[in-house]
Amino acid sequence: MRSFIALALSGCAVPIVHAFIRFPCSQLVTERFDPFNLSMDPSIDLAATSTCTTCRFIEDKSNYWTAVLYFKHPNGSYIRVNQMANHNTGPGLQSGGMTIYYFQPQAPTKNLNIVPFQKGFRMILGDPMRRTDNIPAGKTASKAVTFRCFQGDDPGPFGSPGNTPQDTVGFPPNQCTGGIRSNFFFPQCWDGINLDPPDHSSHVAQPEGTPGSDGLQFFGTDCPASHPVRLPLLFMEIVWDTRPFNTAELWPKDGTQPFVFSMGDPTGYGQHADYVFGWEGDSLKRAMDTCLTGSGIPADCPVLTWQSTEEMNRCRQAIKVEEVTESQYLDRLPGCNPIQAGPAPATPVQNCDAVATTITDAPLPTADPELIVPPWSVCYDGPGTHTLAPNCNATSTATETATSTVGPAIITAAPA
Ligand SMILES: *[C@@H]1O[C@H](CO)[C@@H](O)[C@H](O)[C@H]1NC(C)=O
Ligand SMILES: *[C@@H]1O[C@H](CO)[C@@H](O)[C@H](O)[C@H]1NC(C)=O
Ligand SMILES: *[C@@H]1O[C@H](CO)[C@@H](O)[C@H](O)[C@H]1NC(C)=O
Repeated sequence: MRSFIALALSGCAVPIVHAFIRFPCSQLVTERFDPFNLSMDPSIDLAATSTCTTCRFIEDKSNYWTAVLYFKHPNGSYIRVNQMANHNTGPGLQSGGMTIYYFQPQAPTKNLNIVPFQKGFRMILGDPMRRTDNIPAGKTASKAVTFRCFQGDDPGPFGSPGNTPQDTVGFPPNQCTGGIRSNFFFPQCWDGINLDPPDHSSHVAQPEGTPGSDGLQFFGTDCPASHPVRLPLLFMEIVWDTRPFNTAELWPKDGTQPFVFSMGDPTGYGQHADYVFGWEGDSLKRAMDTCLTGSGIPADCPVLTWQSTEEMNRCRQAIKVEEVTESQYLDRLPGCNPIQAGPAPATPVQNCDAVATTITDAPLPTADPELIVPPWSVCYDGPGTHTLAPNCNATSTATETATSTVGPAIITAAPA
């Protein structure tokens, strides 16, 4: 996200000494179950049990989850919206998935020293039941989960996600001819004690501060006294290829927009994501300590090992829940997820007989996600270097390839 990076750095009056890495992770699997219930068993050591990762850096065996986007056809049927590569995520085209960033905080915060995530650390960002923009505008959290509406091949204006005219907290109301990007600023303040409380969220908090027009409050503000320990700032983006659905005939005649999240959310306010820390050893800490170039380009962080996009895309996880969730029109959203438009919070369906708590003994083969060519370029082609884009000629430094079994790195989940 070139524009965001440039702005974030230009807001800094002192030489840049804070770390920053940015890298793609392709899609591992799409299926419907509660990630915290079935797959995120805290006793699983992801770094030790994973045999591959869909992420650029092979040290990252973390789980990143998101709700799945569906398009609702005027005839009432639903089809999953594909994910596509973000700009500057090459060389090579990732098949679906996300872009992951880790940042160190910067002045003027007094919490400049980050503490690495601990093994077993998990968190959720956002609230799947939310159906209205109910976080006071003065709070940093009000801009933590947003959308950006792309037009054509333009990767967007300067400005931190959530803070430009192209950004919204709910679904963009109009057609985005280049697709829609979800933006997630995870909480970066920790209570220093709990790895994963029952609500998966009360152990962490967003920094305090008033969102400014540049969005830099995510970097420069202080942690609240209740959550004084500063974590690396995890930021995630997912680009949805909404381009096939941008015709007047496919849009509702009543002026609403046609996209819904898998949990029955037609507003977008219920957008959420989950994280399970799974970096090998102290690898993330090493990157945060030494990758200070400010470019975010994977090749500029030599303390980590990177694999090619082909190797990333080859890492796949078999489906464990026998259910059709994608690639064809469905009569209704998978599971017990009726459309609930709010503004009152959504309520779970009682006596749901479709709770995906049972998994098949033999995991089922899953089709590879479609390889989609995005409207923008994913790398910089030509001699010389570009300050903020990976060069298309860059070659992998990874020495190992593997096949997928347990401990996925990326799961795109339709939550229960
Ligand atoms: C998973 O969810 C089911 C149904 O909601 C519940 O009965 C079960 O205890 C949960 N399992 C875990 C490990 O949380
Ligand atoms: C709605 O339209 C899609 C696309 O043409 C089609 O595949 C689907 O079967 C239709 N659903 C109904 C209920 O007619
Ligand atoms: C990239 O590769 C092409 C073709 O092999 C070559 O012409 C070009 O000079 C290379 N650029 C860089 C920056 O290495």
